[in-house]
Amino acid sequence: MSSFAAQSSSPFQLPVVHARPARVLTGDRPTGALHIGHYLGSLRNRVALQASGAELMVVIADYQVITDRDGVGPLPERVLSMVADYLACGIDPDQAVIFPHSAVAELNQLIVPFLSLVSDAELRRNPTVKAELDDSHRPLSALLLTYPVHQAADILFCGADVVPVGRDQLPHLEVSRLIARRFNDRYERLFTEPQALLSEVPLLLGTDGRKMSKSRGNTISLGASEDETAAAIRGAVTDAERHISYEPDRRPGVAALLEMAASIQGRDPGELADEIGDRGAGLLKRVATDTVNEHLRPIRARRAELLAAPDQLTDVLIHGIAAATDIARTTLTAVRRAMRMNYLG
Ligand code: TRP
Repeated sequence: MSSFAAQSSSPFQLPVVHARPARVLTGDRPTGALHIGHYLGSLRNRVALQASGAELMVVIADYQVITDRDGVGPLPERVLSMVADYLACGIDPDQAVIFPHSAVAELNQLIVPFLSLVSDAELRRNPTVKAELDDSHRPLSALLLTYPVHQAADILFCGADVVPVGRDQLPHLEVSRLIARRFNDRYERLFTEPQALLSEVPLLLGTDGRKMSKSRGNTISLGASEDETAAAIRGAVTDAERHISYEPDRRPGVAALLEMAASIQGRDPGELADEIGDRGAGLLKRVATDTVNEHLRPIRARRAELLAAPDQLTDVLIHGIAAATDIARTTLTAVRRAMRMNYLG
């Protein structure tokens, strides 16, 4: 099996548009454990960007947890485990700024002027918000409707020019760009229009063939054991056809496993499908399991070490909150000055 599970070199594309190191911001909602979809869709890219000299900001979007559910869940544990995931994947805490946005008051205050720059109709047609609303089985809260504006504050407060995200986040990035443009036109040119950086695996399907999501339980979390990983992949939805082919529209379950394994191996999913051919879904699942487990083994070991020393993880947050607060304070001061709200000079 080892020939299937060969480690890849770097399959990511880096932005080449910036002469100086970009400031990159991205983030995650602490609604559950980070999983292989986050890893392939975004975490790997963050590490590669940091290695290329970009300044990396990572927002832990804790206020976003309550956009589509009633409570926050076990937040402290989830946040620390997320920090452990980041560091285990290779984000360097001495260079990166990692912070929960609820702890940065000045960032949140930007939402007030930003809300004045978008209309109700613009917010209502956001397809990702609509999908999240349908999934939530709740009435639309004002926070869910406006969270792309909150996300604009996350992005714009630090002048991020590149935002590595999955494809589902593109409508939100459009809102950030719109707010930056309108603020700049109406008051003063303060904000950079951020660009999305999509990875080659923007949307990985979960083991049930639907969108991979922490709250759906159809994921393989970075912290799962090798046995749990094997069980999740064994139970993944495929189909009755023996011959393995890469046809994402007709065979989404098979395609999801092929994409996951091929992406880690740094190769084409169609090529992997041909290699497996008539040996069927059983072999595909074994290949996917071995590939994921081999690749995650060192990451999982590091993660366990980090979680055994939680004070270090808390220190990363203390440092991150202080650095983000400095930046947010400077931005808010500039915003209030541009809006002629600097009453005391
Ligand atoms: N909405 C993002 C998600 O659900 C998380 C997020 C919050 C984010 N703030 C951000 C992503 C800023 C990129 C930039 O995954």
